[in-house]
Amino acid sequence: MGAGIAQLCIQAGLETVGREVTLELAERAQGGIAHFLGRAVEKGKLDAAERDAALGRLRLTTELADLAGCDVVIEAIVEELGPKRELFAALGGIVRQETVLATNTSALSVTEIAAAASRPERVVGMHFFNPAPLMPLVEIVRAELSSDDAVETAYALGQRLGRNPIRCHDTPGFVVNRVLIPLLNDCIRVLDESRVAPEDLDTAMTNGAGWPMGPCTLVDLVGIDVHVHASEALYEKLREPRMAPPPRLVAMKNAGLLGRKSGRGFFSYEKG
Ligand code: 3HC
Repeated sequence: MGAGIAQLCIQAGLETVGREVTLELAERAQGGIAHFLGRAVEKGKLDAAERDAALGRLRLTTELADLAGCDVVIEAIVEELGPKRELFAALGGIVRQETVLATNTSALSVTEIAAAASRPERVVGMHFFNPAPLMPLVEIVRAELSSDDAVETAYALGQRLGRNPIRCHDTPGFVVNRVLIPLLNDCIRVLDESRVAPEDLDTAMTNGAGWPMGPCTLVDLVGIDVHVHASEALYEKLREPRMAPPPRLVAMKNAGLLGRKSGRGFFSYEKG
């Protein structure tokens, strides 16, 4: 997700710092961005000079301290509360007072993340959808203590990135995931109940319900681990049985079948 968001930023003309835990991971993300921008050039949607200028706006780092000059920081790290809270606490000692700190969390509480920050009023949710460069929506999430200014800054950034932002409050799953996560969980349970094959379930939902991609392909794209974490977070808050991750997905996560990113989930993918 971080790479997709960085791609949107550089395409919108923003000087962007991409921070990863290793330089190798950062370079891999940069390579993906270069690939997609290259495809846009081949298709005549972008000229080569624009691609080069966009790529030139992306600076890679492994150091949090290199985020010091940023007006907005968008966090897209592992989907767990502890590491996110640690990161937001650390950012307080690095960024300027007025910097907006946004989390791209799928289903964790923005308010609980913000509570670890030294200035929780500057923290909001900016929830992008996968793949970020292709999905027009971004949910701008107001946490308990978010200031109007921080919310509106994030909203304006969403517009600048060419997205269609919506404003919402910090409720479990916000808007889309409150609906989509139990729906995908139902789809996975149907796999076992009706003993339909994953490819046939996908055909059913694309051909019979007009979905742009089938549920198994979509969970592979999102990441089985991300989906399981989001389901667990929603179940913890809402206690609705449909929110709980189906055992089949938990088993896949434990086996390292994470979808596209690991090369295997419901389907197999070539490396890269
Ligand atoms: N950046 C830029 N371009 C990209 C890209 C990326 N990351 N990924 C793919 N593309 C390009 C491809 O290269 C392709 O061009 P090419 O074939 O000429 O190279 C082009 O985009 C279109 O690709 P597709 O032919 O696959 O496009 P489709 O018309 O099939 O649409 C889609 C793709 C928009 C992803 C569509 O299938 C869709 O809407 N799927 C549903 C996705 C969805 O529901 N996402 C939400 C997931 S939930 C979520 O993210 C929330 C989180 O909290 C869990």
